[in-house]
Amino acid sequence: SEGLFTYDPGFVSTASCESEITYIDGAKGVLLHRGYPIDQLANECDYLDVCYLLLYGELPSSDQKATFEHAIMHHTMVHEQLHQFFKGFRRDSHPMAIMVGVVGALSAFYHDSLDISNDRHREVAAHRLISKMPTLAAMAYKYSIGQPFAYPRNDLSYGGNFLHMMFSTPAEEYKVNPVLARAMDKIFTLHADHEQNASTSTVRLAGSSGANPFACIAAGIAALWGPAHGGANEAVLNMLEEIGDEANIEEYIARAKDKDDPFRLMGFGHRVYKNYDPRAKVMKATCDEVLSELGVQDDPLLKIAMRLEKIALEDEYFVEKKLYPNVDFYSGIIFKAIGIPTDMFTVLFAVGRTPGWIAHWKEMISGPYRIGRPRQLYKGYDQRDVSGD
Ligand code: SDX
Repeated sequence: SEGLFTYDPGFVSTASCESEITYIDGAKGVLLHRGYPIDQLANECDYLDVCYLLLYGELPSSDQKATFEHAIMHHTMVHEQLHQFFKGFRRDSHPMAIMVGVVGALSAFYHDSLDISNDRHREVAAHRLISKMPTLAAMAYKYSIGQPFAYPRNDLSYGGNFLHMMFSTPAEEYKVNPVLARAMDKIFTLHADHEQNASTSTVRLAGSSGANPFACIAAGIAALWGPAHGGANEAVLNMLEEIGDEANIEEYIARAKDKDDPFRLMGFGHRVYKNYDPRAKVMKATCDEVLSELGVQDDPLLKIAMRLEKIALEDEYFVEKKLYPNVDFYSGIIFKAIGIPTDMFTVLFAVGRTPGWIAHWKEMISGPYRIGRPRQLYKGYDQRDVSGD
C-alpha cells in the first residue's frame, strides 16, 4: 500500500513471472540453466546442446542432438526475397537497426502458416529463429561493407558457419580456425539466457498479447540495443579506445565515481549480480585463448582492460557498491581480435540470446497465460475540472 492506493493482487502477477529455465543468485554469482552451472555448459557442451536444454529442459542424447542439429543447420538460408529488405537500408545503418527490421519481417514470411496455439508450430518457429539469426547477422555486416552475402554451409559448426558467412567472399573462401569457431560457440552460450532481463521481459510482454514469435524477438532485439543492456559490449570497446592509455585509467575511474558525471564504467555493474558475473570468468579465459591463438596477447586494449579491472576491483567505491566486471567486459576484445567491427557486437549478443528469448516465449504461451499489464504508482493530479472550478 502506497497511501495513494493499494496495489491489487494482480500487480504481482504482471510484474513478475514463474519460470523453470534459468536461476541466478546475484549475491553468490551463480547462474544455472535448467540446473546446470554456466561454466560447465560453456566448457563441456556446445551451443546447440544449450539451445536444446533451454527449449526442452534436458541436455540432448546423441540421437536427439543429431536430429536437432540437422533441423537447425539445414534451415540456415533465408527466403531470397528477404535479401531485398537489406537494400532499403543506408549502407551506414547500424546493424542493430537492420536486425530489428529484418527479424520483424520474418513475420511476413511465416505468419500465415503459423498457429501459435499449435505446439509443433511453436517448436518450428523456435528452430527457424535459431537457424536464421546468424545468417541475418552476417548479412547485415556484409551489406554494411558492400560485399555480397555469403550463403551458409551445412558442413560447418554453428560458430564456424557464422564466421564463414561473415568473412568468406566469392573471391576467397574464409578458412575457419577451429579455435575461433569454438570461441564463438562459447560466447553464444555465455549469452544464451539470463532470466528476466530487460530484453527477455520485453519478449514475454509482447508474447503475452499473442503476437507472433518473430515480432516478439524483434521487440527483444530493440530492447537489447541500449548501452545499459546488450549495447554495453560495444560501449566497452569505445570506452577502452577513449581511455587510450593505461596512464589515463585513474581519471576515468574518478569520473565513474563522480555523481555529477554521467560517465559509467562500461562492462561493470549489474542489476542482479553483486558478485563476479560467472559468465565474465569464462569470457576472460576465452579471451586469453583467442588472443594467444592469434598471437595478439599484447593487444593494448586488453592491457588497458586488465589494468582497469585490477584497479576497479581494489577501489573502495566499486567494492562498496559491489560493482564487478559483467559478461560484456571481455566479449568486445575477443570480437575485435577476430576482426568483427564494434557495431556488430550487440548483434552477436542478440544471436546468442535468441534461444533464451524463444524458450521464455515458448514456456509462457505453452500454458495458461494472461496479457501482461504492469501497473504504476500514479504521481499526477487528482481529478480536476476544465472550467477551473
Ligand atoms: C547486461 O539484466 C541482465 O541480466 C542483463 C544482462 C543479460 O545477460 O541480459 O546481464 C546483460 O545488460 C549486463 C550489464 C551491461 N551494462 C553495462 O555494463 C553498462 C554499465 N553498467 C551500468 O550501467 C549499471 O551497472 C547497470 C545498468 C548494469 C545496473 O545499473 P543499476 O541497477 O543502477 O546499478 P546498481 O543498482 O548496481 O548501482 C549501484 C550503484 C549506483 O550508485 P548509487 O545510486 O547507489 O549512488 O553503483 C553505481 C550506480 O550509480 N554504478 C556504477 C556503475 N554501475 C552502477 N557506477 C559507475 N560505473 C558503473 N558501471
